[in-house]
Amino acid sequence: MLRTHRAPTVRHTVGGWRRRGRRVAFVPTMGAIHAGHLSLVARARRDADRVVASVFVNPLQFGPREDYRRYPRPVRRDRALLREAGVDLLWEPRAGEFYPPGHRTRVRVGGMDEVLEGASRPGHFVGVATVVLKLLIVVTPDTLWLGQKDAQQARLVERMVEDLDLPLRVRRGPTVRERDGLALSSRNAYLAGEERRQAVALWRGLAAARARLRSGERSAARLRAVVRQVWRGFPLVREDYVAVLDADRFEPVARVRGRVLVAVAARIGRARLIDNIEWGTR
Ligand code: PAJ
Repeated sequence: MLRTHRAPTVRHTVGGWRRRGRRVAFVPTMGAIHAGHLSLVARARRDADRVVASVFVNPLQFGPREDYRRYPRPVRRDRALLREAGVDLLWEPRAGEFYPPGHRTRVRVGGMDEVLEGASRPGHFVGVATVVLKLLIVVTPDTLWLGQKDAQQARLVERMVEDLDLPLRVRRGPTVRERDGLALSSRNAYLAGEERRQAVALWRGLAAARARLRSGERSAARLRAVVRQVWRGFPLVREDYVAVLDADRFEPVARVRGRVLVAVAARIGRARLIDNIEWGTR
């Protein structure tokens, strides 16, 4: 596995591959690599000849009171895991080089960045769109791999790729979970004993909503109530939002039609966790 912090090295390496007709897949991450990230690398491996991964804790997507400083950075472990997973090129940009003094340009995907995660985390999605576009311009992959775990991020990036006619395909990998259903997340490391036990509430709530969908429930309000009812059994879970949305347009719906997303966010101790399920056909 080749490893660099320099954008020109990434350009040069990928350029060489592309000239020889190799298909290139890209998996951007913020590190603290877990089985969710690795499943994306495995999918990328299967669909391309070369896999590029990036590890960059992007300061632009963290709010002033968020966890940028304490975000986990197990650098050596991440490198070993990504190498073993078959990554060909690991790009580890340095914040000072990626955003040199005086940088000002920001990418905004209008509307979609104001609901759910965007409403709870002002500026977050401008940070995400800006970093992802900058990464894509250097890596120039054929496919970009994102996780369903961050459904709003995935939809927003898909929108950006479409709006800007970027010549690549965005693909999603399903959410990888712990045995009890908790979605893998770098932020699960913030959960202490009893908090970790109660974190299963997010998945339990979604599973209950899915069961109701299966038995024919179509009222968004009643589906949200089902999730909240489950959460009453988990007193450490403080709701941020429980939402039922059109999966494509990312707008709240009153009744379930077509493909919908049930998306939740909650605080447990000092962790803020998100999860979702998709339901229905496009
Ligand atoms: P990060 O949280 O490190 O996630 C990197 C990728 O892994 C994202 O596409 C995310 O959706 C996916 N992922 C995270 N947990 C997952 C799980 N349990 N199962 C499957 N996939 C999972 O998301 C980011 O970083 C950043 O916002 C980034 C896109 C890199 C831009 O900075």
